[in-house]
Amino acid sequence: MNSIYDSCEAYLPIILQTFIQDIEEAAANYKKETNLKLYEHLHARIKTEKSMREKCQRKGLPQTSQSALKEIRDAIGVRIITGFTDDIYRIVEYIRQMPSIHIFKEKDYIRQVKPNGYRSYHLILEVTTPYPDCLGNDQGTYFIEIQLRTIAMDSWASLEHQMKYKKNIQNPERITRELKRCADELASCDLTMQTIRDLIQRSDQD
Ligand code: GTP
Ligand code: MG
Repeated sequence: MNSIYDSCEAYLPIILQTFIQDIEEAAANYKKETNLKLYEHLHARIKTEKSMREKCQRKGLPQTSQSALKEIRDAIGVRIITGFTDDIYRIVEYIRQMPSIHIFKEKDYIRQVKPNGYRSYHLILEVTTPYPDCLGNDQGTYFIEIQLRTIAMDSWASLEHQMKYKKNIQNPERITRELKRCADELASCDLTMQTIRDLIQRSDQD
């Protein structure tokens, strides 16, 4: 079977790599200026053929490269994990300034927390590239989904994700309630951590 990404398949890892390099460069510059880490770590992936076909099916879309690359916008995905909440907003501003990148969609689930307690900052980027896209444009555009979260938000999201995909869970209401409480406690810790870091930074300048 042909790849659902068609002849664009080969460009996806290159586009991902280019973006990662830009972020790494920003982090290196920030480190030079402040001696601080812009982020802790970063995960990146190209959505597998199988998951993309399943997602098309779930959304009632035909299994074409156009569905996979234009209707669905997470074929390329990057998750950036930070030490502190402030870092997330700093990275978003770095990304906003990157040339050839347009922010197509932006969701701040940190200020607008989801009812289950989920916190993260989501971006869908539209990147102009030197590669053709599935619509036949020479300087094609591609989407990249970015999720930014602190270490605490990330560990919570992994735990909550485990529950979502488990069937026949006993007492789901209790787990949902405990998860929500835990998310709020972690958010409170993130805030304290941020405050402590700011205090340390400030006393450094005195
Ligand atoms: P899709 O879920 O990709 O179709 O898009 P959407 O429009 O619902 O986007 P949204 O930004 O809400 O979610 C995108 C991704 O964020 C999801 O695929 C998950 O990886 C993650 N995410 C969103 N909400 C939650 C949540 O409540 N819990 C966890 N663990 N992850 C979430
Ligand atoms: Mg997704």
